[in-house]
Amino acid sequence: MLEHLPDHYTAVITGGGGIGRALLAELSRDPRAGRIVSVTRHRERLEQDDRLDIDRLDIVDADVTTEQGLATLSDYLHQTPVHLLFNTIGVLHDGQSDQSTVIAPEKRLERLSFDALNHAFQVNAATAAMLISTLTDRLTRHPAIIATLSARVGSIKDNDLGGWYAYRASKAALNMLMKTASIEFKRRNPQAILLCLHPGTTDTELSRPFQARVPKGKLFTPAFVAERLLAVISQRTPDDSGAFYDWNDTPIEW
Ligand SMILES: NC(=O)c1ccc[n+]([C@@H]2O[C@H](COP(=O)([O-])OP(=O)(O)OC[C@H]3O[C@@H](n4cnc5c(N)ncnc54)[C@H](OP(=O)(O)O)[C@@H]3O)[C@@H](O)[C@H]2O)c1
Repeated sequence: MLEHLPDHYTAVITGGGGIGRALLAELSRDPRAGRIVSVTRHRERLEQDDRLDIDRLDIVDADVTTEQGLATLSDYLHQTPVHLLFNTIGVLHDGQSDQSTVIAPEKRLERLSFDALNHAFQVNAATAAMLISTLTDRLTRHPAIIATLSARVGSIKDNDLGGWYAYRASKAALNMLMKTASIEFKRRNPQAILLCLHPGTTDTELSRPFQARVPKGKLFTPAFVAERLLAVISQRTPDDSGAFYDWNDTPIEW
């Protein structure tokens, strides 16, 4: 797994949600992994997850959707070279189901709000770019993989259904930011691979309100998805940098 990276590679996983924790569990089993750094606002969720060997992880308590959180992560890592940066942070809804809910997929134009659009762009798009911007000097001079979880609904080509304005548009913006960073990285670190990934519909808090509509067999466990995504990125070379792949190793059109 992750043969592109050196032995004892350092991995930084941002977000300790359903898929983030499953990635941490999978990476912890890789004998070639060195430091595994988890960045989360909710350390207790990691401590309560019995699939995780908490002593194997370096946990950074930070909200990297803010300048302060990025500075905390940067200070923590100091000059450590980062070989794998895997961003799993994302928001689709705020867990409220009442009419006053601020963050929820919008079915109609009348439901749009500056607050929800700005929040989605900050969490889903800007954060991934700001992470790379903050850690650029620690992501160059050695083989590196920079992956972020996007979503198929962020594909403009694939948008036949409409709706979900803020989430879709923020993921499309994320894709553009990653594609653009991949072009700069081709010059600054030709050994880097930047990828956007679609995990498929996965059984986590993020998909919970929408799971009733998922066809049987199409709702994946986080463990399955983590294993698949690490297999997908392990197949890639620097020639693939700047691409968008799904969990099944199939490229997605922008
Ligand atoms: N689940 C799916 O079906 C599905 C499908 C397509 C794409 N995705 C994408 O996959 C990624 C991971 O999602 P998931 O399913 O694992 O969801 P999840 O369990 O809800 O985890 C998302 C994590 O993102 C971080 N986050 C969310 N809102 C934040 C905020 N306002 N500020 C800072 N951090 C915030 C949190 O990390 P901490 O609490 O640890 O700080 C949260 O646990 C997301 O980008 C999502 O869009 C998921």
